[in-house]
Amino acid sequence: MNQRVDMPAPVAIKLPTTAAPLPLPDAERARLGERIKRLLKERDAVLVAHYYVDEDLQRLAEETGGCVADSLEMARFGNAHPARTLVVAGVRFMGETAKILNPEKRVLMPTLQAECSLDLGCPAHLFIPFCDAHPDRQVVVYSNTSAEVKARADWVVTSSIAVKLIEHLKARGEKILWAPDRHLGNYIQRITGADMLLWNATCVVHDEFKGQALAALKRQHPDAAVIAHPESPAAVLELADVIGSTSQLIQAAKNLPQQKLIVATDRGIFYKMKQAAPGKILMAAPTAGEGATCESCAHCPWMAMNALDNLAQVLETGANEVHVDEAVRVKALRATQRMLDFAASIRQKNHGD
Ligand code: 13P
Ligand code: SF4
Repeated sequence: MNQRVDMPAPVAIKLPTTAAPLPLPDAERARLGERIKRLLKERDAVLVAHYYVDEDLQRLAEETGGCVADSLEMARFGNAHPARTLVVAGVRFMGETAKILNPEKRVLMPTLQAECSLDLGCPAHLFIPFCDAHPDRQVVVYSNTSAEVKARADWVVTSSIAVKLIEHLKARGEKILWAPDRHLGNYIQRITGADMLLWNATCVVHDEFKGQALAALKRQHPDAAVIAHPESPAAVLELADVIGSTSQLIQAAKNLPQQKLIVATDRGIFYKMKQAAPGKILMAAPTAGEGATCESCAHCPWMAMNALDNLAQVLETGANEVHVDEAVRVKALRATQRMLDFAASIRQKNHGD
């Protein structure tokens, strides 16, 4: 049974005050792109980018043998790649995950200020005592957490394998303590029926998608399919035809028969979704209802801090290196490596099927 009674109070989150970088003129973008390509080679570096970052960065990652992926594949790719430097274009937990898995590699990020509201909403000094108060539960944390929180966890997981992992733990008779995203936790609890105690944080981007406004948009476009990331509220997920991680949503956009798609996730994903499903009409799910305001407006304010100029600069100077305290890293590696191993076992099973 889901024990909502014990859910802790949410931690207040401050959105970044620095504005996202301004768009650059085409000639400047081309010049920076060439410089980045040269520097990646010279520095034996590979660019690992998330689907939500600026499309110039996604394009560069594709063109230079890097990867554009969901958070699980970013971790797997960086771990498997032979380059001595990983340049992670995303948010802090992605850079830290790369460092946890690859202590011998240099991990750089275009900015070290790119946070995540789920990570900020689950500080280790509050989370650790919460875990200590529930020693009978397996601690499963989303990858969107700090290294310190991962160090306290039994398992790290991303949205692409979360349901499968909880099913696996439930089959073993385990009770779960889940953190930090309560929408994702509620969703997994609903479909697996597992006994899950939830931490109380949300993603500032997905939390703003609105069920009622989405229902109205669906009525206007009855021929459209709704695809949603599971960090969205239950009222949005109830209306979704497909729920999945960023990679799974791109796959769904390609495979669904509908030509029109209403997309409830960060609009940065449209770059890859258009490639995967050329000719399909992509509509952003409504964020705040008619006449209201939205804070993120379907684009992560921290992902938006990654830009061509700060990427070129870190490659040039080696600034913005990610460091994780070694004792914390060693502890965090246990649960993070379990995530990669569990994902590999699922892939193997699927190939064997
Ligand atoms: P994915 O693992 O689906 O890429 O999600 C990461 C994320 O931060 C979504 O908001
Ligand atoms: Fe975190 Fe949400 Fe931004 Fe993803 S989109 S990095 S979950 S704040």
